[in-house]
Amino acid sequence: MIRDIVIESRSYRSFDETQKLGEEDLRTLIDTARLCPSAVNRQPLKYRLVFEKDEVETVVANTAWAGMLKDMTFPPEGHHPAAFIVMCCDTKICEDPNGCKVDVGIAAQTIMLQAAEAGFGGCMIGAFNPDTIGEKLRLPKKIVPVLILALGVPDETVFICNVDANGNTMYFRDKANLHFVPKRALDDIIVE
Ligand SMILES: Cc1cc2nc3c(=O)[nH]c(=O)nc-3n(C[C@H](O)[C@H](O)[C@H](O)COP(=O)(O)O)c2cc1C
Repeated sequence: MIRDIVIESRSYRSFDETQKLGEEDLRTLIDTARLCPSAVNRQPLKYRLVFEKDEVETVVANTAWAGMLKDMTFPPEGHHPAAFIVMCCDTKICEDPNGCKVDVGIAAQTIMLQAAEAGFGGCMIGAFNPDTIGEKLRLPKKIVPVLILALGVPDETVFICNVDANGNTMYFRDKANLHFVPKRALDDIIVE
């Protein structure tokens, strides 16, 4: 059921490093993403697959994770993702990378859902400098990174909970390091 996969597909920031995810796994995910809707069917998205250890570490070092959990480091040492998909806007097709953001969201969630179905998990990462990532991964100038997907086999537990009476949506961890993600109630998001 799609709902079950959506529930399972949380943002995970700690991974079992013994579990690999290779180029073929990543290509399978992109092969589904390429079938997604695209505004005016322009399909400006291009993907850089990152699965070699040194490149994975380069992306880890140049991305920011769980900014709300100030006193913790993610991903923890020894629990890094197996791979990344760097989603890029081909500015030869769509001049302004902001103009492809809706396409990015649709494709990103499609990739994450298929990854969850295959037993993987990960996190969408928007906190990075596109120039730095482009340079480190030697991307052509016209290919601009817009969102990064971390992927692997998660080794942490994440639960959905209700937003509290104050409407606080900030995710948090308890003493057992379980991660909780408050979601707004159905009646609070339907506009009369
Ligand atoms: C567009 C976008 C950008 C995000 N960027 C980051 C990020 O830079 N670092 C991070 O740790 N999480 C990032 N996240 C993950 C969110 O923090 C996460 O979706 C949110 O806490 C809700 O948790 P859930 O995905 O388990 O529902 C991003 C999510 C989205 C949709």
